[in-house]
Amino acid sequence: MSYEKKNISTRYGFRDGLKLAGCGGGDTASTTAAATEAAAEGAETTAQAEAPAENAEVANKDKPLVWFNRQPSNSSTGELDMAALSFNEDTYYVGFDANQGAELQGQMVLDYIEANIDTIDRNGDGIIGYVLAIGDIGHNDSIARTRGVRKALGTGVDKDGNINSDPVGMNADGSATVVQDGTLEINGTTYTVRELASQEMKNSAGATWDAATAGNAVGTWASSFGESIDIVVSNNDGMGMSMFNAWSKDNQVPTFGYDANADAVAAIGEGYGGTISQHADVQAYLTLRVLRNALDGVDVDTGIGTADDAGNVLSDDVYVYNADERSYYALNVAVTAENYQDFMDSTKTYEPVSNQLDASAHPEKSVWLNIYNAADNFLSATYQPLLQNYDDLLNLKVEYIGGDGQTESNITNRLGNPSQYDAFAINMVKTDNAASYTALLSQ
Ligand code: BGC
Ligand code: CA
Repeated sequence: MSYEKKNISTRYGFRDGLKLAGCGGGDTASTTAAATEAAAEGAETTAQAEAPAENAEVANKDKPLVWFNRQPSNSSTGELDMAALSFNEDTYYVGFDANQGAELQGQMVLDYIEANIDTIDRNGDGIIGYVLAIGDIGHNDSIARTRGVRKALGTGVDKDGNINSDPVGMNADGSATVVQDGTLEINGTTYTVRELASQEMKNSAGATWDAATAGNAVGTWASSFGESIDIVVSNNDGMGMSMFNAWSKDNQVPTFGYDANADAVAAIGEGYGGTISQHADVQAYLTLRVLRNALDGVDVDTGIGTADDAGNVLSDDVYVYNADERSYYALNVAVTAENYQDFMDSTKTYEPVSNQLDASAHPEKSVWLNIYNAADNFLSATYQPLLQNYDDLLNLKVEYIGGDGQTESNITNRLGNPSQYDAFAINMVKTDNAASYTALLSQ
Protein backbone atom coordinates (compact mmCIF):
# COMPACT_ATOMS: atom_id res chain seq x y z
CA MET A 1 0.00 0.00 0.00
CA SER A 2 1.53 3.28 -1.05
CA TYR A 3 -0.22 5.17 1.76
CA GLU A 4 1.55 3.12 4.37
CA LYS A 5 4.88 3.23 2.62
CA LYS A 6 4.79 6.96 2.42
CA ASN A 7 4.28 7.14 6.14
CA ILE A 8 7.14 4.86 6.92
CA SER A 9 9.63 6.72 4.82
CA THR A 10 8.47 9.99 6.34
CA ARG A 11 8.99 8.50 9.72
CA TYR A 12 12.53 7.42 9.05
CA GLY A 13 13.33 10.73 7.43
CA PHE A 14 12.21 12.37 10.65
CA ARG A 15 14.16 10.02 12.83
CA ASP A 16 17.37 10.35 10.88
CA GLY A 17 17.10 14.10 10.98
CA LEU A 18 16.69 13.93 14.71
CA LYS A 19 19.60 11.58 15.09
CA LEU A 20 21.99 13.86 13.23
CA ALA A 21 20.75 17.11 14.64
CA GLY A 22 20.53 15.75 18.15
CA CYS A 23 24.16 14.85 18.60
CA GLY A 24 25.23 18.32 19.68
CA GLY A 25 23.10 18.02 22.78
CA GLY A 26 20.69 20.86 21.90
CA ASP A 27 17.91 18.34 21.99
CA THR A 28 14.91 20.57 22.42
CA ALA A 29 15.98 22.90 19.66
CA SER A 30 16.75 20.14 17.23
CA THR A 31 13.50 18.37 18.00
CA THR A 32 11.65 21.57 17.22
CA ALA A 33 13.64 22.08 14.06
CA ALA A 34 12.98 18.55 12.96
CA ALA A 35 9.32 18.89 13.80
CA THR A 36 9.04 22.09 11.80
CA GLU A 37 10.71 20.40 8.91
CA ALA A 38 8.38 17.47 9.21
CA ALA A 39 5.40 19.81 9.44
CA ALA A 40 6.54 21.56 6.31
CA GLU A 41 6.84 18.26 4.60
CA GLY A 42 3.38 17.44 5.93
CA ALA A 43 1.91 20.58 4.38
CA GLU A 44 3.45 19.62 1.12
CA THR A 45 2.05 16.10 1.22
CA THR A 46 -1.36 17.36 2.31
CA ALA A 47 -1.34 19.54 -0.77
CA GLN A 48 -0.80 16.36 -2.72
CA ALA A 49 -3.77 14.87 -0.90
CA GLU A 50 -1.68 12.48 1.17
CA ALA A 51 -1.42 11.91 4.89
CA PRO A 52 0.05 14.82 6.82
CA ALA A 53 3.49 13.90 8.13
CA GLU A 54 3.26 15.93 11.31
CA ASN A 55 1.23 13.20 12.92
CA ALA A 56 2.85 10.62 10.71
CA GLU A 57 1.42 7.32 11.72
CA VAL A 58 4.12 4.75 12.14
CA ALA A 59 3.01 1.39 10.83
CA ASN A 60 2.66 -1.07 13.68
CA LYS A 61 5.18 -3.38 12.07
CA ASP A 62 7.81 -0.64 12.31
CA LYS A 63 7.25 0.22 15.95
CA PRO A 64 9.85 -0.73 18.57
CA LEU A 65 9.31 -4.21 19.93
CA VAL A 66 11.01 -5.94 22.85
CA TRP A 67 10.58 -9.56 23.81
CA PHE A 68 11.43 -10.24 27.42
CA ASN A 69 11.76 -13.16 29.84
CA ARG A 70 10.76 -15.73 27.22
CA GLN A 71 13.12 -15.69 24.29
CA PRO A 72 11.54 -16.46 20.95
CA SER A 73 12.81 -19.97 20.32
CA ASN A 74 11.82 -23.51 19.48
CA SER A 75 10.65 -25.07 22.72
CA SER A 76 11.93 -28.53 21.83
CA THR A 77 15.35 -27.67 20.39
CA GLY A 78 16.00 -24.28 22.00
CA GLU A 79 16.93 -22.85 18.61
CA LEU A 80 16.40 -19.09 18.52
CA ASP A 81 13.58 -17.70 16.40
CA MET A 82 15.64 -15.13 14.52
CA ALA A 83 12.68 -14.02 12.42
CA ALA A 84 10.98 -12.84 15.61
CA LEU A 85 14.18 -11.44 17.10
CA SER A 86 14.81 -9.32 14.02
CA PHE A 87 11.18 -8.52 13.24
CA ASN A 88 12.14 -4.90 12.54
CA GLU A 89 15.23 -2.77 13.12
CA ASP A 90 14.05 -1.86 16.61
CA THR A 91 13.42 -5.37 17.88
CA TYR A 92 15.38 -6.86 20.78
CA TYR A 93 15.18 -9.50 23.46
CA VAL A 94 15.92 -8.85 27.11
CA GLY A 95 16.59 -11.71 29.47
CA PHE A 96 19.54 -12.92 31.43
CA ASP A 97 22.45 -15.27 30.89
CA ALA A 98 20.69 -18.57 31.49
CA ASN A 99 23.83 -20.71 31.37
CA GLN A 100 25.91 -18.55 33.67
CA GLY A 101 22.98 -18.49 36.12
CA ALA A 102 22.42 -22.21 35.89
CA GLU A 103 26.09 -22.90 36.64
CA LEU A 104 25.86 -20.65 39.67
CA GLN A 105 22.73 -22.43 40.85
CA GLY A 106 24.41 -25.84 40.65
CA GLN A 107 27.55 -24.51 42.31
CA MET A 108 25.52 -22.94 45.13
CA VAL A 109 23.92 -26.31 45.93
CA LEU A 110 27.27 -28.10 45.72
CA ASP A 111 28.94 -25.52 47.99
CA TYR A 112 26.16 -26.00 50.51
CA ILE A 113 26.60 -29.78 50.53
CA GLU A 114 30.35 -29.45 51.03
CA ALA A 115 30.01 -26.95 53.83
CA ASN A 116 27.34 -28.99 55.63
CA ILE A 117 28.52 -32.49 54.91
CA ASP A 118 28.46 -33.51 58.58
CA THR A 119 24.73 -33.02 58.88
CA ILE A 120 23.31 -33.21 55.39
CA ASP A 121 22.79 -36.96 55.02
CA ARG A 122 19.68 -37.21 57.15
CA ASN A 123 19.32 -40.99 57.26
CA GLY A 124 23.06 -41.62 57.22
CA ASP A 125 23.03 -44.08 54.33
CA GLY A 126 25.81 -42.33 52.43
CA ILE A 127 23.41 -41.16 49.73
CA ILE A 128 22.61 -37.48 49.41
CA GLY A 129 19.15 -37.38 47.92
CA TYR A 130 17.56 -34.39 46.23
CA VAL A 131 14.29 -33.67 44.48
CA LEU A 132 13.98 -31.15 41.67
CA ALA A 133 11.05 -28.99 40.61
CA ILE A 134 11.29 -28.28 36.89
CA GLY A 135 9.41 -25.17 35.73
CA ASP A 136 8.53 -25.71 32.11
CA ILE A 137 10.28 -28.43 30.12
CA GLY A 138 10.15 -26.29 26.97
CA HIS A 139 11.55 -23.07 28.51
CA ASN A 140 15.23 -22.29 27.86
CA ASP A 141 15.81 -21.05 31.41
CA SER A 142 14.21 -24.10 32.93
CA ILE A 143 16.26 -26.42 30.74
CA ALA A 144 19.50 -24.60 31.58
CA ARG A 145 18.81 -24.78 35.34
CA THR A 146 18.05 -28.48 35.28
CA ARG A 147 21.31 -29.02 33.41
CA GLY A 148 23.26 -26.75 35.74
CA VAL A 149 22.15 -28.65 38.82
CA ARG A 150 22.80 -32.07 37.26
CA LYS A 151 26.19 -30.95 36.00
CA ALA A 152 27.39 -29.65 39.37
CA LEU A 153 26.13 -32.69 41.26
CA GLY A 154 27.37 -35.22 38.72
CA THR A 155 23.91 -36.60 38.04
CA GLY A 156 23.64 -35.54 34.38
CA VAL A 157 23.81 -37.93 31.45
CA ASP A 158 24.56 -36.98 27.89
CA LYS A 159 21.85 -36.63 25.29
CA ASP A 160 22.84 -35.44 21.82
CA GLY A 161 25.95 -33.73 23.12
CA ASN A 162 24.27 -31.95 26.01
CA ILE A 163 23.08 -32.86 29.49
CA ASN A 164 19.65 -34.47 29.35
CA SER A 165 17.11 -32.11 30.91
CA ASP A 166 14.09 -34.44 30.89
CA PRO A 167 12.25 -35.01 34.18
CA VAL A 168 13.09 -38.33 35.81
CA GLY A 169 9.72 -38.92 37.49
CA MET A 170 10.58 -41.16 40.44
CA ASN A 171 14.05 -42.67 40.89
CA ALA A 172 14.15 -44.25 44.34
CA ASP A 173 16.81 -46.85 43.60
CA GLY A 174 18.95 -44.84 41.19
CA SER A 175 18.13 -47.03 38.22
CA ALA A 176 16.75 -44.28 35.98
CA THR A 177 18.44 -43.62 32.64
CA VAL A 178 17.59 -39.92 32.30
CA VAL A 179 19.96 -39.21 35.20
CA GLN A 180 22.72 -41.15 36.91
CA ASP A 181 23.99 -41.35 40.47
CA GLY A 182 26.83 -38.89 41.04
CA THR A 183 29.70 -39.26 43.47
CA LEU A 184 31.25 -36.65 45.70
CA GLU A 185 34.52 -37.00 47.61
CA ILE A 186 34.39 -34.84 50.67
CA ASN A 187 36.98 -34.96 53.46
CA GLY A 188 38.11 -38.38 52.32
CA THR A 189 34.64 -39.92 52.27
CA THR A 190 32.80 -40.81 49.09
CA TYR A 191 29.09 -40.00 48.91
CA THR A 192 26.52 -40.87 46.31
CA VAL A 193 24.27 -38.06 45.04
CA ARG A 194 20.89 -39.14 43.71
CA GLU A 195 18.11 -37.25 41.98
CA LEU A 196 15.27 -39.05 43.74
CA ALA A 197 12.53 -37.32 41.78
CA SER A 198 11.87 -34.48 39.37
CA GLN A 199 8.91 -33.33 37.34
CA GLU A 200 7.60 -30.42 35.35
CA MET A 201 5.31 -28.29 37.50
CA LYS A 202 2.34 -27.85 35.24
CA ASN A 203 -1.22 -27.68 36.51
CA SER A 204 -4.19 -29.41 34.93
CA ALA A 205 -5.16 -26.24 33.08
CA GLY A 206 -1.69 -26.08 31.54
CA ALA A 207 0.05 -23.34 33.56
CA THR A 208 3.76 -24.05 33.98
CA TRP A 209 6.18 -23.07 36.77
CA ASP A 210 3.13 -23.68 38.89
CA ALA A 211 3.82 -23.08 42.57
CA ALA A 212 0.76 -24.91 43.87
CA THR A 213 1.66 -28.00 41.86
CA ALA A 214 5.14 -27.94 43.38
CA GLY A 215 3.70 -27.66 46.90
CA ASN A 216 1.63 -30.77 46.26
CA ALA A 217 4.50 -32.63 44.63
CA VAL A 218 6.79 -32.20 47.60
CA GLY A 219 4.11 -33.78 49.78
CA THR A 220 3.94 -36.79 47.48
CA TRP A 221 7.71 -37.05 47.36
CA ALA A 222 8.03 -36.74 51.12
CA SER A 223 5.60 -39.57 51.68
CA SER A 224 7.51 -41.82 49.26
CA PHE A 225 11.05 -40.86 50.22
CA GLY A 226 10.81 -39.38 53.73
CA GLU A 227 14.24 -39.02 55.30
CA SER A 228 15.99 -39.84 52.04
CA ILE A 229 15.35 -36.30 50.87
CA ASP A 230 18.26 -34.15 51.98
CA ILE A 231 17.89 -31.23 49.59
CA VAL A 232 15.07 -29.64 47.63
CA VAL A 233 15.98 -27.80 44.45
CA SER A 234 13.62 -25.69 42.43
CA ASN A 235 14.08 -23.92 39.13
CA ASN A 236 12.44 -20.84 40.59
CA ASP A 237 11.51 -19.31 43.93
CA GLY A 238 7.77 -19.41 43.32
CA MET A 239 7.85 -23.20 43.34
CA GLY A 240 10.72 -23.30 45.85
CA MET A 241 8.85 -21.25 48.44
CA SER A 242 5.74 -23.29 47.92
CA MET A 243 7.72 -26.45 48.73
CA PHE A 244 9.52 -24.74 51.60
CA ASN A 245 6.27 -23.66 53.20
CA ALA A 246 4.53 -26.96 52.55
CA TRP A 247 7.27 -29.21 53.82
CA SER A 248 10.96 -28.32 53.96
CA LYS A 249 10.82 -25.55 56.52
CA ASP A 250 9.24 -27.81 59.17
CA ASN A 251 11.54 -30.65 58.24
CA GLN A 252 14.60 -28.41 58.12
CA VAL A 253 15.55 -29.49 54.63
CA PRO A 254 17.50 -26.82 52.72
CA THR A 255 15.59 -25.62 49.69
CA PHE A 256 17.11 -23.73 46.79
CA GLY A 257 15.36 -21.58 44.25
CA TYR A 258 16.05 -18.96 41.63
CA ASP A 259 14.98 -15.32 41.10
CA ALA A 260 15.71 -13.74 44.49
CA ASN A 261 12.07 -12.87 45.05
CA ALA A 262 11.72 -10.87 48.27
CA ASP A 263 9.90 -13.63 50.19
CA ALA A 264 12.57 -16.17 49.25
CA VAL A 265 15.44 -13.88 50.20
CA ALA A 266 13.79 -13.22 53.56
CA ALA A 267 13.30 -16.97 54.06
CA ILE A 268 17.06 -17.52 53.89
CA GLY A 269 17.01 -16.27 57.47
CA GLU A 270 14.67 -19.17 58.27
CA GLY A 271 16.54 -21.94 56.53
CA TYR A 272 15.80 -21.48 52.83
CA GLY A 273 19.09 -22.60 51.28
CA GLY A 274 19.66 -19.87 48.72
CA THR A 275 18.56 -18.38 45.43
CA ILE A 276 20.00 -16.69 42.37
CA SER A 277 19.38 -13.08 41.49
CA GLN A 278 18.94 -12.76 37.75
CA HIS A 279 19.34 -9.00 38.15
CA ALA A 280 15.72 -8.28 37.42
CA ASP A 281 16.50 -4.67 38.29
CA VAL A 282 18.79 -4.52 35.26
CA GLN A 283 16.45 -6.53 33.01
CA ALA A 284 13.39 -4.42 33.74
CA TYR A 285 15.42 -1.33 32.95
CA LEU A 286 16.73 -2.76 29.68
CA THR A 287 13.25 -3.89 28.67
CA LEU A 288 11.93 -0.34 28.70
CA ARG A 289 15.20 1.34 27.81
CA VAL A 290 15.58 -0.25 24.38
CA LEU A 291 12.06 0.98 23.58
CA ARG A 292 12.81 4.48 24.88
CA ASN A 293 15.94 4.68 22.74
CA ALA A 294 14.15 3.59 19.60
CA LEU A 295 11.35 6.08 20.27
CA ASP A 296 13.91 8.83 20.78
CA GLY A 297 15.69 7.81 17.59
CA VAL A 298 19.03 7.51 19.38
CA ASP A 299 21.62 4.79 19.43
CA VAL A 300 20.38 1.70 21.24
CA ASP A 301 23.38 1.80 23.58
CA THR A 302 22.24 5.11 25.09
CA GLY A 303 21.83 4.81 28.86
CA ILE A 304 23.10 1.26 28.58
CA GLY A 305 26.81 1.05 27.69
CA THR A 306 26.98 4.81 27.09
CA ALA A 307 25.77 7.31 29.68
CA ASP A 308 22.61 9.20 28.70
CA ASP A 309 21.89 12.88 29.34
CA ALA A 310 20.68 12.06 32.87
CA GLY A 311 23.76 10.02 33.74
CA ASN A 312 22.19 6.55 33.51
CA VAL A 313 24.69 3.89 32.49
CA LEU A 314 25.30 0.18 33.13
CA SER A 315 28.72 -1.32 33.72
CA ASP A 316 29.65 -4.47 31.86
CA ASP A 317 29.68 -6.65 34.96
CA VAL A 318 25.86 -6.62 35.04
CA TYR A 319 24.90 -7.40 31.44
CA VAL A 320 26.14 -8.56 28.06
CA TYR A 321 24.79 -7.73 24.63
CA ASN A 322 24.90 -10.33 21.89
CA ALA A 323 24.43 -8.52 18.59
CA ASP A 324 23.91 -11.69 16.52
CA GLU A 325 21.07 -12.74 18.80
CA ARG A 326 19.82 -9.16 19.17
CA SER A 327 19.66 -9.98 22.84
CA TYR A 328 20.59 -8.30 26.10
CA TYR A 329 21.40 -10.68 28.92
CA ALA A 330 21.70 -9.61 32.55
CA LEU A 331 24.27 -11.47 34.64
CA ASN A 332 23.32 -13.48 37.74
CA VAL A 333 24.52 -13.40 41.34
CA ALA A 334 24.14 -16.11 44.00
CA VAL A 335 22.22 -15.06 47.12
CA THR A 336 22.97 -17.15 50.19
CA ALA A 337 23.15 -16.85 53.98
CA GLU A 338 26.35 -14.85 53.48
CA ASN A 339 24.96 -11.93 51.49
CA TYR A 340 21.15 -12.11 51.53
CA GLN A 341 20.76 -8.97 53.61
CA ASP A 342 21.84 -6.96 50.57
CA PHE A 343 19.02 -8.40 48.44
CA MET A 344 16.01 -7.92 50.69
CA ASP A 345 14.27 -5.34 48.51
CA SER A 346 13.82 -7.01 45.15
CA THR A 347 11.78 -4.19 43.63
CA LYS A 348 14.28 -1.40 44.13
CA THR A 349 15.62 0.11 40.89
CA TYR A 350 19.29 -0.39 40.14
CA GLU A 351 21.05 2.70 41.42
CA PRO A 352 23.25 3.51 38.37
CA VAL A 353 20.16 3.69 36.13
CA SER A 354 17.70 5.40 38.46
CA ASN A 355 17.89 8.94 37.10
CA GLN A 356 14.75 10.59 35.79
CA LEU A 357 14.76 11.50 32.10
CA ASP A 358 13.83 15.01 31.17
CA ALA A 359 10.32 15.09 29.79
CA SER A 360 10.98 17.78 27.20
CA ALA A 361 13.78 15.84 25.56
CA HIS A 362 12.09 12.47 26.12
CA PRO A 363 8.36 13.10 25.85
CA GLU A 364 5.80 10.63 27.10
CA LYS A 365 5.14 7.63 24.85
CA SER A 366 2.74 4.80 25.31
CA VAL A 367 3.70 1.16 25.55
CA TRP A 368 1.64 -2.01 25.49
CA LEU A 369 3.21 -4.64 27.74
CA ASN A 370 2.05 -8.06 28.82
CA ILE A 371 3.02 -10.48 31.56
CA TYR A 372 2.40 -14.06 30.38
CA ASN A 373 0.95 -15.14 33.72
CA ALA A 374 -0.34 -12.73 36.33
CA ALA A 375 0.15 -15.50 38.91
CA ASP A 376 3.85 -16.05 38.16
CA ASN A 377 5.62 -15.07 41.38
CA PHE A 378 8.78 -13.74 39.78
CA LEU A 379 7.09 -11.69 37.10
CA SER A 380 4.33 -10.32 39.28
CA ALA A 381 6.21 -9.80 42.55
CA THR A 382 9.59 -8.73 41.22
CA TYR A 383 9.66 -7.88 37.53
CA GLN A 384 6.44 -5.92 37.13
CA PRO A 385 6.96 -3.69 40.17
CA LEU A 386 10.41 -2.88 38.80
CA LEU A 387 8.96 -2.05 35.39
CA GLN A 388 6.48 0.22 37.12
CA ASN A 389 9.31 2.06 38.83
CA TYR A 390 11.26 2.48 35.63
CA ASP A 391 8.35 3.52 33.43
CA ASP A 392 8.08 6.79 35.37
CA LEU A 393 11.81 7.43 35.18
CA LEU A 394 11.74 6.87 31.41
CA ASN A 395 8.52 8.83 30.76
CA LEU A 396 6.72 5.83 29.37
CA LYS A 397 3.05 5.29 29.91
CA VAL A 398 2.77 1.55 30.08
CA GLU A 399 -0.40 -0.47 29.91
CA TYR A 400 0.17 -3.73 31.76
CA ILE A 401 -1.78 -6.77 30.60
CA GLY A 402 -1.73 -9.95 32.71
CA GLY A 403 -2.24 -13.33 31.06
CA ASP A 404 -3.37 -16.60 32.61
CA GLY A 405 -0.17 -18.47 31.79
CA GLN A 406 -1.92 -20.96 29.54
CA THR A 407 -3.63 -19.38 26.58
CA GLU A 408 -1.78 -17.12 24.21
CA SER A 409 -5.03 -15.85 22.75
CA ASN A 410 -6.10 -14.57 26.15
CA ILE A 411 -3.25 -12.06 25.69
CA THR A 412 -3.27 -11.51 21.93
CA ASN A 413 -7.02 -10.76 22.14
CA ARG A 414 -6.09 -7.76 24.22
CA LEU A 415 -3.78 -6.42 21.56
CA GLY A 416 -6.81 -5.52 19.49
CA ASN A 417 -5.72 -2.01 18.62
CA PRO A 418 -1.94 -1.83 18.31
CA SER A 419 -2.21 1.53 16.53
CA GLN A 420 -2.97 3.09 19.90
CA TYR A 421 0.56 2.42 21.15
CA ASP A 422 4.03 3.62 20.26
CA ALA A 423 5.87 0.45 21.24
CA PHE A 424 5.36 -3.11 22.50
CA ALA A 425 6.92 -5.32 25.17
CA ILE A 426 5.96 -8.96 24.93
CA ASN A 427 6.25 -11.90 27.33
CA MET A 428 4.89 -14.94 25.50
CA VAL A 429 3.16 -17.87 27.10
CA LYS A 430 5.16 -20.23 24.90
CA THR A 431 8.47 -19.35 23.37
CA ASP A 432 7.30 -20.77 20.00
CA ASN A 433 4.46 -18.32 19.69
CA ALA A 434 6.13 -15.10 18.56
CA ALA A 435 4.32 -15.19 15.22
CA SER A 436 0.92 -14.82 16.87
CA TYR A 437 2.06 -11.38 18.01
CA THR A 438 4.02 -10.28 14.97
CA ALA A 439 1.08 -11.25 12.76
CA LEU A 440 -1.07 -8.75 14.65
CA LEU A 441 1.54 -6.06 14.22
CA SER A 442 1.92 -6.80 10.52
CA GLN A 443 -1.76 -6.45 9.66
C1 BGC B 1 11.96 -17.09 35.90
C2 BGC B 1 10.86 -17.87 36.46
C3 BGC B 1 9.61 -17.54 35.73
C4 BGC B 1 9.81 -17.80 34.28
C5 BGC B 1 8.62 -17.41 33.51
C6 BGC B 1 12.10 -17.42 34.47
O1 BGC B 1 13.14 -16.73 33.91
O2 BGC B 1 13.14 -17.35 36.57
O3 BGC B 1 10.67 -17.63 37.80
O4 BGC B 1 8.56 -18.28 36.23
O5 BGC B 1 10.92 -17.12 33.81
O6 BGC B 1 8.81 -17.37 32.16
CA1 CA C 1 20.76 -40.16 52.73
